[in-house]
Amino acid sequence: MSSADKNLNMKILVTGASGLLGQELCPMLDEIGALYWATNSKIFDITNVKMVNEIMNKVKLDFIIHLAAFTNVDQAEVNQKEAFEVNHIGTKNMAKIAKKLDVPILYLSTASVFDGETSVPYKTSDIAHPINIYGQSKLMGEEEIRKITKKHYIIRTSTLYGKGGNNYVDAMLTYSMFNSNISVVDDQVSCPTWTRDLAKEIIKFLTEKREFGTYHISSSGYVSWPELTKKIFDIKKRNVFITPIKNSDFPRPAKRPRFNVLDNKGILPSWEKSLEEYLLAK
Ligand SMILES: NC(=O)c1ccc[n+]([C@@H]2O[C@H](COP(=O)([O-])OP(=O)(O)OC[C@H]3O[C@@H](n4cnc5c(N)ncnc54)[C@H](OP(=O)(O)O)[C@@H]3O)[C@@H](O)[C@H]2O)c1
Repeated sequence: MSSADKNLNMKILVTGASGLLGQELCPMLDEIGALYWATNSKIFDITNVKMVNEIMNKVKLDFIIHLAAFTNVDQAEVNQKEAFEVNHIGTKNMAKIAKKLDVPILYLSTASVFDGETSVPYKTSDIAHPINIYGQSKLMGEEEIRKITKKHYIIRTSTLYGKGGNNYVDAMLTYSMFNSNISVVDDQVSCPTWTRDLAKEIIKFLTEKREFGTYHISSSGYVSWPELTKKIFDIKKRNVFITPIKNSDFPRPAKRPRFNVLDNKGILPSWEKSLEEYLLAK
């Protein structure tokens, strides 16, 4: 970051700031000197139109970073109304605010807008076809944003991990402290992405003039869940035996895309490199 970037004269609203990605991103906003309002569901409920409008009539903003979402993929099947309310209607509310204030909105979306019935990483031009409620509700959020305001960045990513929130990598480390065997679904691949890598990229949307539109940003490469799990245990020298199982042997409410991989044009480092850096620093 250049010294000029250290005094970004911008007022930013961050929704979902208390989440996994928000906790990594907000300290980086501090570093570039941005003035930002870090919100969660208690202080700024994106589904509450009255609350959103009242607050937005009082503040001045230059940019909206919209991370807030209902992210529990299985719970979204059980609690469909709430998932659509947050991911679709909540995002529509944020897009309307962005339009009204005439400011750009950056929305985090997901590789799960695709069905995973391929073996080639998804390009931004590929047709979305979600197979679970989470993916459907996030796609409806995307569509509202595109419809309501031209000034948008839609960033799709996948399988986040990082400090300060629920994620697969940390869950495996905790699991390995108490167990010596684990069964892991082996007929799905994805691209684990470190929140730090992604947050650094998001900062560039503030500091550089980028074209509005849809972006795919995840680590480079992809990996099956057993390979990822083995890598986590190898790096941390944990002795856990991994049994690969089929998705059908592990029934869960939500279907998972088999090939959950985005064509990220090599923007971020490889998943192995970032995972190693994250885990060795822990
Ligand atoms: N995690 C992943 O693997 C992954 C992968 C692809 C895309 N994404 C997308 O990346 C973004 C960030 O994900 P994350 O993992 O950081 O999420 P997260 O850890 O689950 O955090 C969700 C955030 O949304 C807020 N929120 C939920 N309902 C809200 C409401 N009605 N009004 C206002 N805020 C609300 C939560 O606030 P409270 O703390 O008050 O509940 C929390 O700050 C999301 O848009 C997600 O869809 C995530």
